[in-house]
Amino acid sequence: MTAHLKDISSFLAMEVLARAQELEANGRDIIHLEVGEPDFQAPSEALETVINSLSKKPARYTHTQGILPLREEIAKKYKEDYGVNINPGQILVSSGSSLALYIAIRILAPAGSEIIVTDPCYACYENMIRLSGAEPIRIPLKLEEGFELDMGKVRASITKRTKAILINSPMNPTGTVFSKNTLRELAELEIPVISDEIYADLNYVSRPHSFMEFSDNCAALNGFSKFYSMTGWRLGYLIVPEAWIGTAAKLHQNLMISANEFVQEAGLKVLQESRETCEAMKDEFDRRRKFLLGKLKEFDLDPQYQPNSAFYVFLRYRDQKRSSLELAMEILEKTGVALTPGVDFGPGGEGFLRFSYANSQENLERALKRIKESGLI
Ligand SMILES: Cc1ncc(COP(=O)(O)O)c(C=O)c1O
Repeated sequence: MTAHLKDISSFLAMEVLARAQELEANGRDIIHLEVGEPDFQAPSEALETVINSLSKKPARYTHTQGILPLREEIAKKYKEDYGVNINPGQILVSSGSSLALYIAIRILAPAGSEIIVTDPCYACYENMIRLSGAEPIRIPLKLEEGFELDMGKVRASITKRTKAILINSPMNPTGTVFSKNTLRELAELEIPVISDEIYADLNYVSRPHSFMEFSDNCAALNGFSKFYSMTGWRLGYLIVPEAWIGTAAKLHQNLMISANEFVQEAGLKVLQESRETCEAMKDEFDRRRKFLLGKLKEFDLDPQYQPNSAFYVFLRYRDQKRSSLELAMEILEKTGVALTPGVDFGPGGEGFLRFSYANSQENLERALKRIKESGLI
């Protein structure tokens, strides 16, 4: 019955989480460094807005592209942060950026076409591309090159079937960003770029960039899950050229109708009022990042590159003969520390473990101590 979907894999991070929860249910103390979500409460403005909205009026469907004031505020953000001019008509708000990503893939890549992705990359990219009947073409990123995109390899991978290049900068799982030069060269290829900018506001050392600064031949994705600490609220958005928005909106109408009205109102409010709160959360992530990197070095586990953004460190472990899944499971069973196996992010992630520092400094310290004492990496 389901054989046609046999190539769609599940998130290994979720499998680690499931086993971790099982151990927890049996009374084990588990430290979660496997999940990519902030441990903070959402900004209070978001909570107040939702309570107000739900108590005052019935929640309704909205325009499929989202409520206009929210789209206006998003356009303002892109103008202020990146100097790009977009109008609210180019924006599609959805329940998380995940569905918006699927829509971007569907509008650009017909069945049988190719989309260039990086290896490693966020676990669901390849699955969404396959689900669309297209084929992901992997460009390996190397630790030795600071996980920078090799443009020679990108050029060599372009065929007549290439319909888009999917990038994620700042990047999950490495916490690295592509250089301005890389973004400029990508723009010169004149192939549509799907730019996942969900971590753009979590850059600790330099001004973040949107790919839209370099080209408008672009579907940019962003959302409220990470910087605004609103993963479970499910709110994200897609920005595309005017020529593409009608098709994107048509797909969204059919797949989702609209994002929740009260969550959109909360998104509008946090864009208007919660910058300071979110900057404080970002500062805390940066403190944890420095702490984690310091401890890893102290324990002779230096990641050998600078993870300057998002909230991840991608660590190549010593015993390269071991599979990352087997190692992550053994670490979980023996130490109670949950990490994501690198292979979750593609074959290029094999030999790595991803640490998420979206957890307290105290927990990071306890986790590292346990790992060190176990001698497993
Ligand atoms: C790179 C990347 N893109 C998209 C998402 C999903 O975001 P959302 O919660 O907006 O669906 C994640 C979540 O971890 C992510 O890491």
